[in-house]
Amino acid sequence: MVDARRFIQTIDTVSRSLQDLVRSGTSGLDCSPASLEIIAGWGRRTLRGSESLGAVREDLGDCRRCKLASSRTRIVFGQGNPRARLMFIGEGPGQEEDRAGEPFVGAAGQLLTKIIEAIKLTRPEVYIANVVKCRPPGNRLPEPDEIATCMPFLERQIAAVRPRLICLLGACAAQSVLRTTEPISRLRGRFFDRNGIRVMPTFHPAYLLRNPEKKRDVWEDMKLLMKEYPYED
Ligand code: URA
Repeated sequence: MVDARRFIQTIDTVSRSLQDLVRSGTSGLDCSPASLEIIAGWGRRTLRGSESLGAVREDLGDCRRCKLASSRTRIVFGQGNPRARLMFIGEGPGQEEDRAGEPFVGAAGQLLTKIIEAIKLTRPEVYIANVVKCRPPGNRLPEPDEIATCMPFLERQIAAVRPRLICLLGACAAQSVLRTTEPISRLRGRFFDRNGIRVMPTFHPAYLLRNPEKKRDVWEDMKLLMKEYPYED
């Protein structure tokens, strides 16, 4: 029997080695987003339903796999319903999340709570996670190596929860999960398929705090999400 955890680590190593080789100038390798998605899919299929969130958390341990470990206070793993039908994915913990060890508890988090309630759900009903689980110092953007190191854990969280819908909050989450460089302004409000899960990017709540006029766009996106959400099941 294949050890699912070791298999997905191997898949991730293959994917990252391919990208490193292409970056360092090796020709003849197909490292397109479509190919990387196929490779990631091998791992997801193996993991689907095969481990719990607790097992993923346990494997993460007192993670020191990337340089964010040296400046964080707490790992912010994720929070919510382990059987959620809807999962929200943000960028990474800020100062307050780093202190609390919980995602989206600061000002952006309060706005996210309002958005969740506006679509007739509650925070305990959904699952909330981030692309990186440790706070980038000074709230800078997570760097590509940090995202690449943390992504297998997010993939495993998604596989464990198996939501019907995922809402990606902001450019970092949208581009990392969908493996694209398209701007969030073009990605938002569109559904993408990730192994049978309907995935929709929208603007990040922190961006809405700085640009309140964009709240209207997010409400349009949330109405689309509500049409797909299985309220009746
Ligand atoms: N912003 C994020 O992307 N995630 C959090 O948990 C908090 C703020």
